[in-house]
Amino acid sequence: MSAFDAAVFSSNSSFELDHLTIGGVSASQLAAEFGTPLYVVDEEDFITRAENWRNALSESFGENAGNVYYAAKSFLNKEIARWVNSVGIGLDVCTGGELAVAKAVNFDGARIELHGNNKSELEISEAVQYGVHTIVVDSFFEIERVARISSEFGVKQRVLIRVTPGVEAHTHEFISTAHEDVKFGFSLASGAAWDAISDIKGRPSLELVGLHSHIGSQIFEIAGFAAAAEKLISLLAKYRDYYGSELPELDLGGGCGINYVPGEYTPDPFVVMSELAKVVRDACARANIKMPRISIEPGRAIVGPTTTTLYTVGTTKSVELDDGSSRTYISVDGGMSDNIRPALYGAQYLAIIANRLPLGPTQTSRIVGKHCESGDILIREIHMSSDIQPGDLIAIPATGAYGRSMASNYNHLTKPAVVAVRDGAARIITKRESIADILAMDI
Ligand SMILES: Cc1ncc(COP(=O)(O)O)c(C=O)c1O
Repeated sequence: MSAFDAAVFSSNSSFELDHLTIGGVSASQLAAEFGTPLYVVDEEDFITRAENWRNALSESFGENAGNVYYAAKSFLNKEIARWVNSVGIGLDVCTGGELAVAKAVNFDGARIELHGNNKSELEISEAVQYGVHTIVVDSFFEIERVARISSEFGVKQRVLIRVTPGVEAHTHEFISTAHEDVKFGFSLASGAAWDAISDIKGRPSLELVGLHSHIGSQIFEIAGFAAAAEKLISLLAKYRDYYGSELPELDLGGGCGINYVPGEYTPDPFVVMSELAKVVRDACARANIKMPRISIEPGRAIVGPTTTTLYTVGTTKSVELDDGSSRTYISVDGGMSDNIRPALYGAQYLAIIANRLPLGPTQTSRIVGKHCESGDILIREIHMSSDIQPGDLIAIPATGAYGRSMASNYNHLTKPAVVAVRDGAARIITKRESIADILAMDI
């Protein structure tokens, strides 16, 4: 029996008879036509998830719904930017490169937000000229730069202040810390966030529209978002008491988790948003302020589950362990260059044989890449069929977020292609890099 798990693969995936199918196209056909490693994006799944976050925000917050900004860093190419634009949600970009992709497809500037802790003058001026909705300022130097550049272009630029609320969340836990030892944002506890407000208020080319926070990633519980929202709302109340007017926007960032392996779950956006709306409403009522427009920036929760990476097995090798047991090393034709997450922070994934039914008993296995690095491990421990052999196709689901976007050319491996599948058809949306592309960079 295949270890296929519908809850981890993209919505239009199934294991039919003896092979994996995604968006109506078989994994073997995809591998034969486009080669491996290959990122396969389930187009309808992406669009549905983006629409769900949009609808969940607007249903839960009603007239106080701001924007869903898809976090481009999780994965962006021109076609993804077109899908995001067509759903009518916004785009959170944090470099000039991400902004360039948006510009290349005429993404509506009024739905773009510029992030980053060290935006260059060029990045700021490109964003101002493109008419981005907001620039999220991250340091005092940057407030001066954005003010100067906006004034040069005769623009009154809307800005949000990135606040470090002293809340850090990862998976099922969050911690509140007194000091905020991170490179992002203005500390709430030290008073820097308040000083940033007064700095911006004194600059005629800037319009302060609100506050922003992003507390972490792979978050499953609402408690961390709630704690951050409470803290930001008390700052909004302090602002109202001091300046006599209310800031209209509050952006609570991204970070919602997804399931990578069986047994985890992907929170329902409608549940997350309605719980958050309740928390924010209560906190605003307690602070006696008008409810601001609420925006969010999901990346992983939109693109993560939509993509499956296909690899071809090159070799297998059995090694004896100290305790007398053995482990099979299964080497595939990609690795840490197309998915750095396991090596970078121990991320876990599922894998299945995609081209046939496994027939042998399972054995303790490790799926590794082809890089010259012992840490080039995609899955540290998994039970795979003992009949796995060179030429088999391996599918690893939920690789849409921070896979291709963090890919490298380590060992001069070329970055894999990205293929969109839908209704039985497949098309390239990012070409496979060639060695010639890489060599072309060298003088
Ligand atoms: C400011 C900001 N917004 C949104 C995101 C997206 O987070 P996720 O993909 O976990 O939703 C990130 C990720 O690092 C971020 O730094």
